[in-house]
Amino acid sequence: MARCFVTRRLPGSALDRLRAAHQVDVWPERLPPPYEELAARAAEADGLLTLLTDRVDASLIEHSPRLRAISNYAVGYDNVDLKAAAARGIPVGNTPDVLTDATADLTFALLLAAARKLPEAAAAVRDGDWVTWEPGRYLGAEVHGATLGIIGFGRIGKAVARRASGFDMTVLHTAGEGSGDASGVALETLLERSDFVSLHCPLTPETYHLIDDDALSRMKPSAILVNTARGPIVDHDALRRALIAGEIAGAALDVTDPEPLPSDDPLLGAPNLIVVPHIGSGTRAARERMADLAVDNLLAALDGQPMPHQVVAAG
Ligand code: DGY
Repeated sequence: MARCFVTRRLPGSALDRLRAAHQVDVWPERLPPPYEELAARAAEADGLLTLLTDRVDASLIEHSPRLRAISNYAVGYDNVDLKAAAARGIPVGNTPDVLTDATADLTFALLLAAARKLPEAAAAVRDGDWVTWEPGRYLGAEVHGATLGIIGFGRIGKAVARRASGFDMTVLHTAGEGSGDASGVALETLLERSDFVSLHCPLTPETYHLIDDDALSRMKPSAILVNTARGPIVDHDALRRALIAGEIAGAALDVTDPEPLPSDDPLLGAPNLIVVPHIGSGTRAARERMADLAVDNLLAALDGQPMPHQVVAAG
């Protein structure tokens, strides 16, 4: 029987399957275990089930002599040092596919909410400012027939493109990502032509601050930026400047840098901005399936089998 540390309670019954096979310690708090606590628990564990809020770095891995498996409850894994894990022969698992549609749905919800000014309009009703039907208030951008630029044309990017076709949108996506689709364009072209730009690439050293002053200045003044990928892909200072200057028309973010975004963060003072707290995969079904996959990964590795969804260190 292996010792497992799970860094948060998970929806559904997947953890019962883990408990049936192994000794399982679940962190019971709403907030993540502090890094020192995580490192101390990892030092005693054979298996870790972590969230994207847990930093699983080289030092933690180095000081965890028993560790045989790291299962991340997310499709993204930028919180885990893959190279350090690989150096120790520790497999790292993730939870792809099961959250693709939920995240694509949320992307479209944000896109529509920003385009049609839903937060302002809903707030007006609550504030008693719905005094009559007015021809000129809350006028938004048309979504149907617009051009959507998708940066990162993987599973989620393609699912967003499928939704866009229902809105008769023209979809552009960045080239060179092995999509097999000849319609890929250069990033600059995508930024200049799109009415909506949606981010779906992983966070890597190459995509850190991909959306910076230069990228934002290439976008149309009427364009809206949507980020449901990872916060640090966008330079927040640059985004704040662009929104204040009217260089772009709006932004809708599910992910921020840092997370959580403090309520007094200067970005929140920018106009035409929607921020929600990283809820892309937040449907009950998706989160339960993520738990199933995360537990499947851990059970397999602890049993000496390949993880069903094992991530591979690049380079
Ligand atoms: C992920 O899985 O990487 C999302 O950001 C959270 O579900």
